[in-house]
Amino acid sequence: MNSSFTGKNILLGISGGIAAYKAADLTSRLIKLGSNVKVVMTKNATRFIHPLTLESLSGNQVYHDTFQSTERYDIEHIALAKWADVFVIAPATANVIGKAACGIADDLLSTTILATEAKTIFAPAMNTVMYQKRVVQDNLKKLEDFGYVIIPPGKGRLACGDWGEGKLADVDDIISALEEILWEKKDLVGKRILVTAGPTNETIDPVRFISNRSSGKMGYAIAKACAIRGATVDLVTGPTSIDPPKGVNIHSVESAKEMYNTTIGLYSYSDIVFKAAAVADYRVQEVATDKIKKGSEPITLKLERNPDILLELGRTKKHQILVGFAAETQELEQYALRKLKDKNLDFILANDVSTKRSGFQSDFNQGILYCINGDVETIPLMDKEDFAHRIIDEVIKYI
Ligand code: CTP
Repeated sequence: MNSSFTGKNILLGISGGIAAYKAADLTSRLIKLGSNVKVVMTKNATRFIHPLTLESLSGNQVYHDTFQSTERYDIEHIALAKWADVFVIAPATANVIGKAACGIADDLLSTTILATEAKTIFAPAMNTVMYQKRVVQDNLKKLEDFGYVIIPPGKGRLACGDWGEGKLADVDDIISALEEILWEKKDLVGKRILVTAGPTNETIDPVRFISNRSSGKMGYAIAKACAIRGATVDLVTGPTSIDPPKGVNIHSVESAKEMYNTTIGLYSYSDIVFKAAAVADYRVQEVATDKIKKGSEPITLKLERNPDILLELGRTKKHQILVGFAAETQELEQYALRKLKDKNLDFILANDVSTKRSGFQSDFNQGILYCINGDVETIPLMDKEDFAHRIIDEVIKYI
């Protein structure tokens, strides 16, 4: 469950394009995230996807044309318009975009767009030539100027067989845009935040490396949460297999040395640093230029120390707030407090990575946040995205 969505009223407008079927996935995902979803469809949309599908997924009546059985359309569009915390039109055809841009209200969807005061998002989907037509681009520009949010379509193979711009944006992108609107606390506006995430890879030879079990999920969740709360975010990330969050500056690195250089380079611009990366403490002293061939004798790899990035940040700290992470399997408090002092940190988040329910690969985390002023906050097991917001809530009190 993601707290940005819990109990929020999301009105989904569906207009008549082939991408209408994706609205079913969007509805299902929003319900799973804990929101209430009501759907308004144009008459044409009902030819692409049956209202019953949306009704079953949302658990609510679907409103689909001007003179529906209720025959209370005049009241309905106002009621829906008032009910919505946010309104998303996905897919938005050239037709509905054109109507909204010109203030035309001739069916339930366009009337509701005009009647609502809720923040409204358009996710266009149409043929490339249509999308690129000047009139459509002008209409989208107009909508943006009016304060509507536009989620640009993706590129790819379209239903008509053409390749190009016009595919409905990924459902993930639509959900991220909704989350940004629904998150009310924009308490990091004006702050620049540096987050490091993921493991580092230390090369042995051209085909092998030493790494660790970090998935990058915790650091990515923090970067995303900071961006949602209005910050400018730099995410320095080691190699991961997860999608980077939207709306953050991504700096991809491979080794601890590269992470060191990139992080130090961004440090002076940063107000808060979350050092969630699992940096390799050692690297191979002599990297083989060719693949090491096997033999009958054991081989020995000599490892040398990598720089401790956080230690260096602590040593050169000026105005920045430094948040470290201590992943431990024993003596949690003792090791965490030692790192807090030795590395000159403001906070350290200690967590026990020996449990399967939280830690490295999991979508959940739990831990204890120690502040240098003596405050201690225990954060119970929760989704890493909610966990990220909890850490930020505590750090913000200290600013
Ligand atoms: N860290 C770092 N550079 C390193 C090692 C660690 O910046 N070379 C940072 C991590 O990003 C984390 C904190 O230091 O925020 C603690 O990392 P951790 O691996 O738990 O501890 P270490 O200081 O490496 O000590 P040890 O491995 O002995 O527990």
